[in-house]
Amino acid sequence: MFRAIGDYTRAELDAADRRYRRWVRRMSRAKRFLAWIAEDDRGRPIGSGALWLTEAQPRPRDPGPYRPYVLSMYTDPRHRGAGVASAIVRHAVQYAKDRRYSRITLHASEMGRPVYARLGFEPGSEMRRRVDVPVRRPRTPARRRRPR
Ligand SMILES: CC(C)(COP(=O)(O)OP(=O)(O)OC[C@H]1O[C@@H](n2cnc3c(N)ncnc32)[C@H](O)[C@@H]1OP(=O)(O)O)[C@@H](O)C(=O)NCCC(=O)NCCS
Repeated sequence: MFRAIGDYTRAELDAADRRYRRWVRRMSRAKRFLAWIAEDDRGRPIGSGALWLTEAQPRPRDPGPYRPYVLSMYTDPRHRGAGVASAIVRHAVQYAKDRRYSRITLHASEMGRPVYARLGFEPGSEMRRRVDVPVRRPRTPARRRRPR
């Protein structure tokens, strides 16, 4: 998935894979991670996606301690446009509904956005900023001169 959506080196991806695998094992053992794998008619994997129960602070109408988050969506390029990702997201939504969560969140890539939008996902209130590089601030209007 990261090779498809970002400009990463092979070494960065391999290192991230190893860390991700360890993290998935840990989350799975804690029963906070599950995934769906779609197969073709010969049992070969063609796409997958996962749901992680993130730890969440209690707030009104949402006692926590977890919130479902969709991640790691990927469909083999030869099988795209056939509804594989949509089917996986529908399963994730059903899982969240069955367990009475009030919402499900994700971060969308350019390719994923239309798929999620069609399934009812909409932009939320999240804001973010880089803290590892200098931030380019938006230009502020010149201070208004006091009338003489
Ligand atoms: C994003 C990605 C996972 C979508 O996978 P996909 O299996 O092709 O997605 P779907 O087939 O469910 O939906 C894609 C298109 O197929 C169409 N489609 C065809 N049959 C369909 C069906 N039975 N049900 C739903 N959609 C169907 C949809 O209309 C949709 O078209 P649109 O999004 O252009 O409007 C895939 O492009 C991918 O792996 N991209 C690279 C990695 C990435 O960006 N991952 C997402 C990170 S958030």
